[in-house]
Amino acid sequence: MWKFLNGSNKKNVDNSVNIEIDMNNIPVHIAVIMDGNGRWAKQRSLPRTLGHKAGVETLKKIVRECSDIGVKYLTVYAFSTENWKRPKDEVSGLMKLLVEYLRNELNELNENNVIIHTIGNIYKLPEPCIDILNKSIEDTKDNTGLVLNLALNYGGRYEILRAVKNILDDYKKGLISDEDIENLNDSRFSDYLYTKGIPDPDVIIRPSGEQRLSNFLLWQCAYSEFWYSNINWPDFSINDLHKAIRDYQNRDRRFGGVNNGEDK
Ligand code: FPP
Repeated sequence: MWKFLNGSNKKNVDNSVNIEIDMNNIPVHIAVIMDGNGRWAKQRSLPRTLGHKAGVETLKKIVRECSDIGVKYLTVYAFSTENWKRPKDEVSGLMKLLVEYLRNELNELNENNVIIHTIGNIYKLPEPCIDILNKSIEDTKDNTGLVLNLALNYGGRYEILRAVKNILDDYKKGLISDEDIENLNDSRFSDYLYTKGIPDPDVIIRPSGEQRLSNFLLWQCAYSEFWYSNINWPDFSINDLHKAIRDYQNRDRRFGGVNNGEDK
């Protein structure tokens, strides 16, 4: 089955969407580095916070579309462990946007069967953020659709160090044995990450022209396909999402093997 949106009678359709995607090969997990908000604002002589506000509008569109086409997990890099270095008013602006987003969107997210999940240490965020995040997680926990995974105060290196420390703690407490340590493998290690139970991303999207990971999902990206574009996140459209998905669908994923993994 193919999806070609132009001219369809779909709700919220973006008329510029003209990229055909294979509905039988939708990536299970898409991860996005929502980059370029600051540059988008600068180009318009606007404060950076308005760039982030415009970025939230893009996020809303992309969440709806991912939910609509059957993506199971959408992880978005909303605030990194390094983003605390930004000017205070930008940090507080981002925190306010997070609260506003969840307050305003929670009903629609629920109606669309979306589950809110977080990765990162959310307990270091301001209290209103923690409260609305906990409420959103609780209110959406029985949904069965798209998992919107918000990376907040998240850093890939911190996540890996935290996993190692937690393994050591469990070992000291006798919760895991010498044998468990000897048998530690990728899958068991993954259970100590924030992303426990979530499959690795199939595709990582980074708009704005940068081509780096910036401490995002370092462990989980081992075999993810990367997709870059020069468009700043506030200008990222459903059509761009479709381009990323179509390009992903044309990639030959071998996971270190040959012939589409058949000879692994
Ligand atoms: C990177 O752009 C973007 C961020 C650090 C924050 C992304 C956050 C949002 C889109 C909104 C808040 C999130 C939610 C979930 C409501 P940048 O500022 O580094 O852009 P630049 O490189 O052009 O300066």
